[in-house]
Amino acid sequence: MIYLIGYMGSGKSTVAECLSTEMNMAYIEMDNAIEKQEGLSIKDMFQAYGESYFRRKETDFLKGLNEDTIVSTGGGVILSDENRRLLSRGSVIYLKASWSTIIDRLNGDSMRPLWKGDTKEKQKHFENRLPLYEEAADYIVSVDGRTPQQVAEAIVQCLK
Ligand code: S3P
Repeated sequence: MIYLIGYMGSGKSTVAECLSTEMNMAYIEMDNAIEKQEGLSIKDMFQAYGESYFRRKETDFLKGLNEDTIVSTGGGVILSDENRRLLSRGSVIYLKASWSTIIDRLNGDSMRPLWKGDTKEKQKHFENRLPLYEEAADYIVSVDGRTPQQVAEAIVQCLK
């Protein structure tokens, strides 16, 4: 299993698609899979049942994975010890983006329930997550100034 982790907007889903082609290996977009399973968008899930409900679904999803695939995770997957333990069964690639890349990419986004508050609050949320990504990562790949294809190629090199 290859897990792509990183903050919202770091490009996990697009990179997973490129990596899937590069490695000729299937990929799963975790957020989409959970949305499909629940019949609800993540935004609506947060609104109707709260964040903790969604977090439980993430953990259940990780536990249920058994095929060897590329998994593009949601940005908060690293929050629980249990999830970090589950991730450690595979190779974990942290797509590291700088704060300026993130604000450029998420500017105007209203679909992500945790991308909220003023710029200072968002930056704090981003910075608080960084040590957790680093802790969970087997490899760290910078995404700043790189296309998803270039990031996918860098991951292939790491995994060689
Ligand atoms: C979240 C990131 C989102 C999604 C949910 C929560 C987070 O995924 O799982 O909105 O806590 O960072 P992306 O990283 O794909 O945006």
